[in-house]
Amino acid sequence: MTALLIKNPAQIVSPRPGSLRGPELKDLHVSSGNCIYITDGVIQTIAPFKELESRAQVDNAAVIDASGKAVVPGFVDCHTHLIFGGDRTDDFALRTAGASYEEIATNGGGIARTVTATRAASKAELKDLAHMRLNRALRQGTTTMEVKTGYGLNPETEMKMLEVIKELNDEHPVDLIPTFLGAHSVPSSMEKTDYIAQIKAMLPEAARIAKFCDVFCEQGYFNSAESFVILEAARKAGMLPRLHANQFHSVGCIEAAVDIEAVSVDHLEVLKLDEISRLADTDIACVMLPGVSLFLDIAFAPAREIINDGCIPVLASDFNPGSNMSLSLQLVMSLACMRMGVSVPEALACITQNAAYALRLDNVGCIETGWQADLVILDCADYREMAYFYGENHAYAVIKKGALV
Ligand code: NIG
Ligand code: FE
Repeated sequence: MTALLIKNPAQIVSPRPGSLRGPELKDLHVSSGNCIYITDGVIQTIAPFKELESRAQVDNAAVIDASGKAVVPGFVDCHTHLIFGGDRTDDFALRTAGASYEEIATNGGGIARTVTATRAASKAELKDLAHMRLNRALRQGTTTMEVKTGYGLNPETEMKMLEVIKELNDEHPVDLIPTFLGAHSVPSSMEKTDYIAQIKAMLPEAARIAKFCDVFCEQGYFNSAESFVILEAARKAGMLPRLHANQFHSVGCIEAAVDIEAVSVDHLEVLKLDEISRLADTDIACVMLPGVSLFLDIAFAPAREIINDGCIPVLASDFNPGSNMSLSLQLVMSLACMRMGVSVPEALACITQNAAYALRLDNVGCIETGWQADLVILDCADYREMAYFYGENHAYAVIKKGALV
């Protein structure tokens, strides 16, 4: 048995379990005067030191002195494009000189540029790149991450990406949840109808590894009817549906998501009020990606309306080479607080418990007895400082399945 005692933290801060809406989001459990006792990767007891001391001695537990530091759940990044070859520094330079994301995409840059580089990269190269990125994410407190394909756009490279995710999941402490995003874009060499047929043919193979299937539902990519057809076939193949929706245009993707009973809709920068009400009547997670709004200088998702109307709000990074080259969920939290009207407790719930819900995980995202011990020990006594003192990494130590990583 392995045992770990996190001794005398200034605060232990956790959202309640479940898919949190409205006032539940800010109803965090904040305790001081307690320690966290972990055995075999699971939280056993949260109690004062004097109640745990003798047991920790008997178990020969490792001890981390957390005095003056707050402890929060490990962060769950439920939307990333972690695996890709090459980079888009040139696109970034064009954009900072005034070109838009859509202009760059129509002129040979954008997703197509990354597809070419990802097809050319070997599996080992992709894995090395992703491994380094994962180390960065872990150092900043991310202990679980969803990872999408979508830079292959052919059966061979899409499967290569899924295999990289699977192998990395076995080798790296961060838990990875694979998503098949064959419908990220249409490869330049193919007609869209032919490519959709090819995506459908890929589904059974993809479903051997992927838990979710995603579609970029957007003008110029896949419309709502095409998205529905792909996701319906994906569900039959054994994957749960989710969508990139309402990033640049509102083109019926929310309706498609409701019809298909999607697990989540992600982006939502141009979400309309009636679409928010529609989502509030469902169990669909509303994943907002403020890093994209910062990076592309586009609108922020209407977080306040999403929360006030009773939707299930979530925050994620959308780490990818074209629209957000940042892995920091601490920065996401700060942006949500500073630019979207989200309070600090709400933002914490959105990157932990509600993000776990968006990935259909029920053992991470909270600090409770019986839950997996994925924790971040912050370098500050008040957890709110990590949003306030922004652009810094406040992770003093990261615990994954009860081990210091
Ligand atoms: O989530 N919106 C579509 N896909 C990514 C961007 C991909 C890229 O530009 O490489 C996103 O923002
Ligand atoms: Fe994305």
